[in-house]
Amino acid sequence: MLIRRPSDIKPSEITPEYVYRTRRRFMRDSLAVAAGAGAGASALALPDSWLEERRVEPGEPIGEQMTSEANATGYNNFYEFGTDKEDPAKYAHEMNVDPWTVEVSGEVAEPGKMGLEDMLAGIDLEERIYRLRCVEAWSMVIPWIGFPVKKLLDRFKPTADAKYVEFKTLHRPSEMRGQRSLFSSIDWPYLEGLRLDEANHPLAIFAVGMYGKLLPNQNGAPIRLVVPWKYGFKSIKSIVSIRLTRRQPVNTWNDLQPREYGFYANVNPNVDHPRWSQARERRFPTTLFRPNYIPTRMFNGYDEVAALYSGMDLARFY
Ligand code: MTE
Repeated sequence: MLIRRPSDIKPSEITPEYVYRTRRRFMRDSLAVAAGAGAGASALALPDSWLEERRVEPGEPIGEQMTSEANATGYNNFYEFGTDKEDPAKYAHEMNVDPWTVEVSGEVAEPGKMGLEDMLAGIDLEERIYRLRCVEAWSMVIPWIGFPVKKLLDRFKPTADAKYVEFKTLHRPSEMRGQRSLFSSIDWPYLEGLRLDEANHPLAIFAVGMYGKLLPNQNGAPIRLVVPWKYGFKSIKSIVSIRLTRRQPVNTWNDLQPREYGFYANVNPNVDHPRWSQARERRFPTTLFRPNYIPTRMFNGYDEVAALYSGMDLARFY
C-alpha cells in the first residue's frame, strides 16, 4: 500500500495550529453547508438541511491538536481515484453521490435496499473526534459526524447466525478513474469486513460528515465507516452494500497482500509491518524536514476495545 515514502510529504502540508471549536462555530459551518459553501463539499445526496435538522453536539476534545480540514480533505487514500495522496481531492467530484442507495442483505430478518435518506431517517447524529492511524504510519485527528454502526444494523434485525459484516464500496469505473486504470492491482470493488461484535462496539461509527459539513467525496461521501482503533484501511468509504455473514468476509488489502495486511488490522505498536515499524507515527501537522513523530498506542489509544480480543494472539491475528 505504501507507495510514497515519508520523505514525499511536501513542506506545504503544514497544519496551522488548531483552535478548539465552539458550538457557535459548528453552527456556522453547518449553515455554510446549506449555502453550498466549503472546500471539496460533496455533491449533496441529502437535503441541505439534513445535518442541521439533527441534533449534533460538539464532540469531546481528546486533548490533541486537531488536524486541519485542508489536510484531512487534501491528503487522502481513496484508490478508486488514484494512488497519489492528492488524487482523491482532484478527481472524486467525478463520482455522483445523488441519488445513493445502500443494500443490506445476508443474515438479517429484514433485508432491503433503500435510499440513504430513508435508511437514516430518525437517526440522531453526533460529533466524534477520533484519531485516524493509517497503516502507512501517518495519523490525523478528525471531527467526524455520524452515528453508531449498531444503530443501523439493528434496524435490519441480524439473525443468530450473523457473525461478521461485509462492506462494499461503489463500483462505477465510468466515474472512478482508479477503477478503470490498467495499472491497478485491486480487484474492485473495495471490500472490508468486521466481526459483528466489533461492528456493534459503540466506538464504531458510520460517518456522513466531518468538520461540521457533509462528507466531501474524497473522504467517502455520502457514508463511510470509521473504526478508530484499527488501521485506516478498515474505514471503507462510499458504502453501497452491507452484508451480514456467517463466515469471515474478504477484505481488499488482505486479499492483495495477506502477509502485510490482516483482517483484524488493530493498531498495534508491537507488531511491525513487514516493511516498516509500527512503533511510531507521523502526526499531522508534519513536514519533510521536521517530521512530527509520536509513539503509536495500542488500539490507537482506545483501550476500551481490548476485551473484544481477550485470549487472541494479536501477532497472529494482525
Ligand atoms: N475506502 C475505499 N473505498 N478505498 C480506499 O482506497 N483507503 C483506506 C480507507 N478507506 C480506501 C478506503 C485507507 S488506506 C485509509 S488510511 C483511509 O480510507 C483514509 O481516509 P481519509 O482519506 O478520509 O483520511
